[in-house]
Amino acid sequence: MAARALVLLGCGWIARRHAAAARRLGIPLLAASRDLARARAFAREFGAADAFGAYEDAVRDPRAAGAIVCTPHDRHLRDALTALEAGLHVLVEKPIAPRLAEVDRMVGVADAAGRILMVAENFRFMPAFRHVHRLIASGRLGELRELHLVARGYRRPGGWRLDVGASGGGVLIDAGIHHVHNLRWWGGEPRRVFALAPPRTVALGGEDAVDLLAELPGGVVGFLSNSLGARGLPRVQWSTVTGTAGTSLADNRGRWVLLRGERGTRLSLFFRDTRGHLALLRAFDEAMRTGRAPEADGAAGRRDLAVVLAAYRSLAERRPVDVEC
Ligand SMILES: NC(=O)c1ccc[n+]([C@@H]2O[C@H](COP(=O)([O-])OP(=O)(O)OC[C@H]3O[C@@H](n4cnc5c(N)ncnc54)[C@H](OP(=O)(O)O)[C@@H]3O)[C@@H](O)[C@H]2O)c1
Repeated sequence: MAARALVLLGCGWIARRHAAAARRLGIPLLAASRDLARARAFAREFGAADAFGAYEDAVRDPRAAGAIVCTPHDRHLRDALTALEAGLHVLVEKPIAPRLAEVDRMVGVADAAGRILMVAENFRFMPAFRHVHRLIASGRLGELRELHLVARGYRRPGGWRLDVGASGGGVLIDAGIHHVHNLRWWGGEPRRVFALAPPRTVALGGEDAVDLLAELPGGVVGFLSNSLGARGLPRVQWSTVTGTAGTSLADNRGRWVLLRGERGTRLSLFFRDTRGHLALLRAFDEAMRTGRAPEADGAAGRRDLAVVLAAYRSLAERRPVDVEC
């Protein structure tokens, strides 16, 4: 029988989401941690077929077909290459890497090896956000005018996120890059961005909040407000897309989308796989089996990162900055 197992590289927070999804889909798992006891406990909890105390050993297991890189950002290139060099397909957590040169290396190695390289951009697979994309593509909103993506709240991260060397930045390169992806997916490729950061509330490697204005194709304006240093806000945060014929208002947790416009009001509710983890893993599994490029491929991950890095340059230089292609 063909190898079908997925190796989880790192047994931290996001690895738990992927493990739960793999179990639901019946995809066998191999758990790899730097600490064998941790890998064993993880494997027991999620019913993984085996546990390893070194990433390098896990990727060489003959049952493995792919690997999911669930490690801090500055390790993504190293861990993806470990898997690719062992002949595995790779699903790498966002951001694909913290630097464009690292992305180019990763994409180059995957292409040369003929392996799938996909970014674990679960927003792309959230039913509510796919619904928004359909509304835009079908013309229900008319001609696009503005996208306002608001993702603000309060959280105090710890561990490697306090080290800018490991994370590559602050909130924008971490949770914010999901919304950058939506900005591009829904509104087109940003040509130029201008970013400002308010005074800090929360200790973090990089910025704890950012407001980003983006020039999108056709004069469309994109705005992203992303923060984990904003106390007192409700947990409901939203993404609105306004066109000449109406506006869609999506709950960022993916439970509903409200459409109001020329043709009345419609509320769409979503109950299953609201965070898109099942659909994401199904897409990776299918890409591995068919060899067809997935939606969230390395090139998409690179474009998301390029917008984030342009925003960081804008913050540093206090001026609008062109996005590197
Ligand atoms: N898609 C999403 O919604 C989402 C949500 C959260 C995070 N993420 C992404 O997932 C990745 C991991 O984030 P996380 O929140 O899961 O982090 P985490 O809980 O800290 O887990 C990271 C894991 O990486 C491994 N690791 C290897 N070298 C490490 C080092 N030097 N320091 C710390 N850990 C190290 C550790 O696993 P072992 O000790 O088992 O080897 C650790 O448990 C990041 O790319 C992050 O941006 C995505």
